[in-house]
Amino acid sequence: MNYTGRRALVTGASAGIGEAFAVALAEKGADLVLTARRGERLKRLAANLEEKFSIAAIVIEADLSDPGSPQKIADELRKLGADVDILINNAGFGLPGAFENADWIAHRDFIELMLTAPAHLVRLFLPGMQARGYGRIINVASLAGLVPAGAGHTMYGASKAFLVGFSQALAAENETTGVNVSALCPGFTYSEFHDVNETRGIVARLPKFMFMQARPVAVGALGAVESRRTVYVPGRWNKFVACLLRMAPRDWAAALVKRQVRNFRIASKS
Ligand SMILES: NC(=O)c1ccc[n+]([C@@H]2O[C@H](COP(=O)([O-])OP(=O)(O)OC[C@H]3O[C@@H](n4cnc5c(N)ncnc54)[C@H](OP(=O)(O)O)[C@@H]3O)[C@@H](O)[C@H]2O)c1
Repeated sequence: MNYTGRRALVTGASAGIGEAFAVALAEKGADLVLTARRGERLKRLAANLEEKFSIAAIVIEADLSDPGSPQKIADELRKLGADVDILINNAGFGLPGAFENADWIAHRDFIELMLTAPAHLVRLFLPGMQARGYGRIINVASLAGLVPAGAGHTMYGASKAFLVGFSQALAAENETTGVNVSALCPGFTYSEFHDVNETRGIVARLPKFMFMQARPVAVGALGAVESRRTVYVPGRWNKFVACLLRMAPRDWAAALVKRQVRNFRIASKS
């Protein structure tokens, strides 16, 4: 894997898995476009990676729950004459609680960030990749997109299942274009995710073997997209869970998830 001369756009690069992608891509020589809302963090990361790996990094501050943001990012890059060869659709968060606990604006912003923005960014950058005969797209989904959904975080599993299906269809459409597409399906990963959605207290009670660091998740996903693995589940534990729930009868898998989620979430009302 050598990405020298390639440029990668990473959404949600200011923390967690997105930041790990930015570091792993820079190590492999990729120039970067880093986007998220917290510009100061992005600028610090960009300066650090430019110095350490002699790459060039562009910072674009954007809120991807704003429907105009993907086009704004594309317009800014066009002005700079900067193509995107690698797209990492990573930005995301979780809305804890039952569906009716959040107002519609919160759900609408969630849908915009988790489903619409990734699809819009693909629509904006895929034609250029196809024309140049080279592209890599990683949509950061989740194990939650592969298993039956339980109560709470109502739209989360559905949004990630969308990204899995979307990636599978894109991969099939691009078999001969030089554009590889993968859905990354991590399980619990150390990042700011559970601090942002205020479930850190409850997930801290889970055994450590269920968690991965962000770096192996990102590095594994880059390997997967290179080898055209369309759906990639990092880590042995996550692979075991995905495999168990895929092979189990549907009703049994749904009942198991329902029970685990009840045990896990009821105390936290998450
Ligand atoms: N951590 C896990 O256990 C886990 C498991 C499975 C899947 N995932 C998925 O992995 C992805 C990355 O999450 P993470 O764990 O790395 O969480 P994280 O540390 O909280 O990082 C989330 C990133 O998304 C960005 N973001 C959030 N809302 C945004 C918005 N409205 N506009 C633009 N950027 C926004 C954040 O940047 P700003 O706040 O600066 O905007 C941040 O850079 C998400 O899609 C998540 O669903 C995480």
